[in-house]
Amino acid sequence: MIDVVDVHKRFKSGNRWVEALRGVSCQIDRGRFAFIVGPSGSGKSTLLYLLGAVDRPTAGSIVVDGQDLLAMSESAQNGYRRDQVGFIFQSFNLISNLTALQNVLVPYMPRGISPEVRQRAVDLLTRVGLGDRLDHRPYQLSGGEQQRVAIARALVKQPILVLADEPTGELDSRTGDEIYTILRQLQESSDVTLVVVTHDRRFIRPDDLVLEIQDGQLANGNGQVHGEVHSTVAAGS
Ligand SMILES: Nc1ncnc2c1ncn2[C@@H]1O[C@H](COP(=O)(O)OP(=O)(O)OP(=O)(O)O)[C@@H](O)[C@H]1O
Ligand SMILES: [Mg+2]
Repeated sequence: MIDVVDVHKRFKSGNRWVEALRGVSCQIDRGRFAFIVGPSGSGKSTLLYLLGAVDRPTAGSIVVDGQDLLAMSESAQNGYRRDQVGFIFQSFNLISNLTALQNVLVPYMPRGISPEVRQRAVDLLTRVGLGDRLDHRPYQLSGGEQQRVAIARALVKQPILVLADEPTGELDSRTGDEIYTILRQLQESSDVTLVVVTHDRRFIRPDDLVLEIQDGQLANGNGQVHGEVHSTVAAGS
């Protein structure tokens, strides 16, 4: 599903270069729950946004579902990002003067909202427990509820890939549990691939893929650490 080969990303910061990613390779199978973990500044968000074609690598290749993101034209990249990838951010990024339902429909606003899409948005909001909050605006919703709206917004376009950057970073731990329960149900009920950056390893299960980044590289070379390695360590410590 996702094939990342020797990806480098360099940023110019003032008059010096920052090597945010230095040769990352990994594979993520369809339907997998993959976690990106590692210290602050290690390159987690950078990798996530490269997978979403928000930015391009300096070198290397990224293929998602047979599509080579670097070989694509800019408009094909825009189409990929718009139609195939659902993004969930730490700070929810809802539009404050729109209702929950309108926020979920935002991805469709430029192209028009069919009755089917509207119904799908209502169904998604119902599925995340907000069926009775469709007309609430973000300020009338708790943080956890706002993030659930953002999840519904990410899913309304029926993406093949959901990318989340610390989706529970601004929530208390109980509300964070609820968000992961929803993401886990999504994984179990569909073949969508989830890639989630987190500082919180509590939600990692043995079958999940763990990509541990340190200083722009995967911690164990190009190998992949699975969840159970970490749960064993956690259990013993
Ligand atoms: N647009 C940019 N311009 C310049 N430098 C950048 C840019 N984006 C990221 N960096 C740098 O690249 C490195 C990796 O950043 P990244 O945001 O990927 O880290 P992170 O692992 O997500 O950290 P955190 O846990 O704090 O969110 C950092 O040194 C950061 O300052
Ligand atoms: Mg980050």
